[in-house]
Amino acid sequence: MQELVIKNLHVSVEGKEILKGVNLVINKKDNVALLGPNGHGKSTLLAAIMGNPKYEVTKGEILIDGKDVLKMSVDERSKNGIFLAMQYPPEVPGVVNADFLKSAINAHRDQPIKLFEFYRDLDRICKEMNIPLDLANRFLNEGFSGGEKKRNEILQMMLLKPDFAMLDEIDSGLDVDAINIVSKAINELEKNDMSFLIVSHYARLYELIHPTRAAIMINGRIVLEGDTSLIEKIDKEGYEFLKKEYNINIKKEESPVMNSVSLGSCAVKQTIK
Ligand SMILES: Nc1ncnc2c1ncn2[C@@H]1O[C@H](COP(=O)(O)OP(=O)(O)O)[C@@H](O)[C@H]1O
Ligand SMILES: [Mg+2]
Repeated sequence: MQELVIKNLHVSVEGKEILKGVNLVINKKDNVALLGPNGHGKSTLLAAIMGNPKYEVTKGEILIDGKDVLKMSVDERSKNGIFLAMQYPPEVPGVVNADFLKSAINAHRDQPIKLFEFYRDLDRICKEMNIPLDLANRFLNEGFSGGEKKRNEILQMMLLKPDFAMLDEIDSGLDVDAINIVSKAINELEKNDMSFLIVSHYARLYELIHPTRAAIMINGRIVLEGDTSLIEKIDKEGYEFLKKEYNINIKKEESPVMNSVSLGSCAVKQTIK
């Protein structure tokens, strides 16, 4: 990937506008730290780039090397090199993890991967990542601990070797050793000209993976971009400086509450009034 361009992106979830005009460019070999308080739209941006159908793009563009990402299905986005390690990876009972991983790899190739080659890679990466190999034989994410789910996302990334990986709070639920292992994996992939967009609340992860720059999302917009000193500043001071130094209001803007009566509120006094 040479560049991913996001232009004036507006995204709604269940009729509520969450992203209100995001502009961001990610170049080859960029490693962008995406910061911002909780609930301001970081995961929404990542989900919209990957093509989660719950997230409706109402306006704007996403282009990968000039190609229209919004016209692509999720699997086409993946084949074009885009990868998302989810904040909350879903459990998929009935689908064996190893089968899922092998199918994902094969969907990216003309010829299916040879079984011994797949298991050799799987075994090597599991050892590197300190993932017990039996995790591969269990149903996808079912009953995995928080940390195992996150490491399984990285295992997928290592096997698929995407051009552009988005990692959503990959370090939450990981202990210090696991964070070191995950960071090592990211550093390893960075050598292959990969680009990253990485959401985390912890300076510790960023210290280990050396982002090239930082972007801050507030109220569904990227309000500030800068070098990595921004990460340090936020780690020390929080987001208050945005108000003081840039007059950016960080209070979450709520959409007007709809006055419709939902099933859950039918019997509430207030709605009867
Ligand atoms: N699937 C969803 N269904 C309903 N609301 C959602 C969904 N995903 C996100 N939202 C809402 O969108 C807003 C932004 O959420 P999110 O993108 O997860 O923020 P962040 O990742 O910055 O914490 C929140 O108000 C959240 O409740
Ligand atoms: Mg999030």
